[in-house]
Amino acid sequence: MSKITYSAPGKCIITGEHSVVYGTPALVTALDIRAYSTVELTDDNCITIFGSDLGITGVFPTSLEVSPEVDPETLSVLRPIWISCSKTLERGNKNVGLKVEINSEIPLSVGLGSSAAIAVSTVAAVGHALGISLGKEEISSIAFEAEKAVHGTPSGVDNSVATFGGVMTYERGKIQYINVRSEVPLVIGNTLKERNTGEWVAKVRYRHDRHPTVIDHIINAIADLTRKAEKAIKDGDLKSLGELMNINQGLLYSLGVSTVELDRLVYIARKAGAYGAKLTGAGGGGCIIALSTHEKQDEIASAIRKAKGEPITTKFSQQGVRFEK
Ligand code: MEV
Repeated sequence: MSKITYSAPGKCIITGEHSVVYGTPALVTALDIRAYSTVELTDDNCITIFGSDLGITGVFPTSLEVSPEVDPETLSVLRPIWISCSKTLERGNKNVGLKVEINSEIPLSVGLGSSAAIAVSTVAAVGHALGISLGKEEISSIAFEAEKAVHGTPSGVDNSVATFGGVMTYERGKIQYINVRSEVPLVIGNTLKERNTGEWVAKVRYRHDRHPTVIDHIINAIADLTRKAEKAIKDGDLKSLGELMNINQGLLYSLGVSTVELDRLVYIARKAGAYGAKLTGAGGGGCIIALSTHEKQDEIASAIRKAKGEPITTKFSQQGVRFEK
């Protein structure tokens, strides 16, 4: 049977992570690094998942009602892919087996949206292989089911940007595209420390439960700066955007999600000439983003490398989920 491949982009949150979980806007962009999912129909009535970059393979039942016979680690890594496949089979009302192979250019578990990109590309590839026509809204909403299984109470921003691509504000399920006229050079600095988004979302919720009025002020301040950051990006005013990113970093620190490693890369990037730098995603490890000029990009990247981080020089991408072959 023929193989179908789809891909979906990674993302970075420019401003507004965590506060977006409480219904305020996040400013986010798709990146030009992607996850690929290749799907083939089988007649063995099970879902076999090869996670080439995840270094793990597992065989799952087609129904989520049946317990899979896999070890707990395999289950925790591959569960969102199993959910993506099973929910799409359910949507198509089909009773067939699937072979799914995942490859990802997006580093895993470091805040760049790998799990959402994998879920989105898998749903799209399974849908196509089954011959059912899924619109982008539906692809995003099935992938959101898988995201909820990994991240607890995610906002939905990751699956939205992985599906639709581009630069956008995301607020309570609503997307507003932003037309970015000039290129916005970014350098990502990976601390190489993996972390779990759900765990850090839960930590912020705990802090919110303990000090609701204080944390609400922080969330509102992030919402305010995100609206200003949206305007700065539209105007091509990188100086203001960088300042707002720095303020956002201070507020994320107050939410308790920055770490010594993240702080170090943030200061190093600023010292190397970034307009602004902050952690991106859930924090607790993972990545920072530094807003740069083209001239400074190499200098910032080599400062990050010297500090034992891994730099990724990347670009905004307009491309959401797409058919590969
Ligand atoms: C997601 O990449 C970052 C968080 O805002 C969680 C979410 O929006 O679901 C921390």
